[in-house]
Amino acid sequence: MTAPGLAATVVRWQRRHGRHGLPWQGTRDPYRVWLSEVMLQQTQVSTVLDYYPRFLARFPDLAALAAAPLDDVFALWSGLGYYSRARNLHRCAQVVVAEHGGRFPATRAGLQALPGIGRSTAAAIAAFCFGERAAILDGNVKRVLTRALGFEGDLASATEERRLWALAESLLPPRDVDVYTQGLMDLGATVCSARQPDCARCPLAPACAARAAGTPERYPVKTRTLRRGRRAAALLWLRQGGRLWLVQRPPRGVWAGLWSLPEFASVEALQQATAAWPGQGSWLAPVQHALTHFDWTLHPLAWRLPPRAPLPPEVPRGRWLTPTQALALGLPAPVRRLIEAPAMA
Ligand code: ADE
Repeated sequence: MTAPGLAATVVRWQRRHGRHGLPWQGTRDPYRVWLSEVMLQQTQVSTVLDYYPRFLARFPDLAALAAAPLDDVFALWSGLGYYSRARNLHRCAQVVVAEHGGRFPATRAGLQALPGIGRSTAAAIAAFCFGERAAILDGNVKRVLTRALGFEGDLASATEERRLWALAESLLPPRDVDVYTQGLMDLGATVCSARQPDCARCPLAPACAARAAGTPERYPVKTRTLRRGRRAAALLWLRQGGRLWLVQRPPRGVWAGLWSLPEFASVEALQQATAAWPGQGSWLAPVQHALTHFDWTLHPLAWRLPPRAPLPPEVPRGRWLTPTQALALGLPAPVRRLIEAPAMA
């Protein structure tokens, strides 16, 4: 299949069989498109459908988002994960207000210079809002293109990755780039899945090199797999009367900037810290939490301080909060689940 043939096939397929009517489609407002693309980076459409309208109700435009306290942004992001996205979102809004007069740059290159906007996201916004001919290449689209083209290069290599970007650019149609871009996304998400591609429904199947070879699952080729580590930590769920103690996490690292239970390096460290405390504690069932680079096992210790006991010196700086106040903050999902549990009552 020629490049024009491939693009025309994707455009035709998107119009008939692609996804339509999603709340971020049918608008050319860069704020709305940008927000949806950032939410969709690591999150499924079904989840974003829940978060997107709530976020827009609280922050209807860029100015509202830029003016909001970061904690409010985290609170609405709470549960979506990958919180650096929320931090960058807020920073990006402030940069666009401060440096671009509150209007997003209207080119892929201009968008890509903003915080949290990579090449593929910049291209998607530029294509959807401004009709720019710019190629996207997220995980889904890499799969579609490497399979269709039989691209054997190892994407662990920067050179091969660049080569694929160049091919993606060369496939762009002269017009309807927005439909084409959405079509590639839709094919990757709904037809050309990683493990069980549904080739019978794929418009590219007759020309697909990977299918002809009988091994679509082999693509994309990427040798260097991320080695995930394991870590453990202990969390202190400290309560006194009707309140609990929360600390704000440092600006870098896991759950940066979120409010959380005080973290101790190990069960032993927390046991040692609490050895001479008044009141009593009990260890709760460990909680498993998967982060990008490691799996985290968290051991929560629920400790009740007697009513008038002073705060023990081993407790890191933080605040006493009622459960209602705490749940209004940006909390990591496992911490939220823990303190929402009926045991809190
Ligand atoms: N994933 C990333 N961007 C998307 C979009 N615009 N529509 C559906 N899924 C997506």
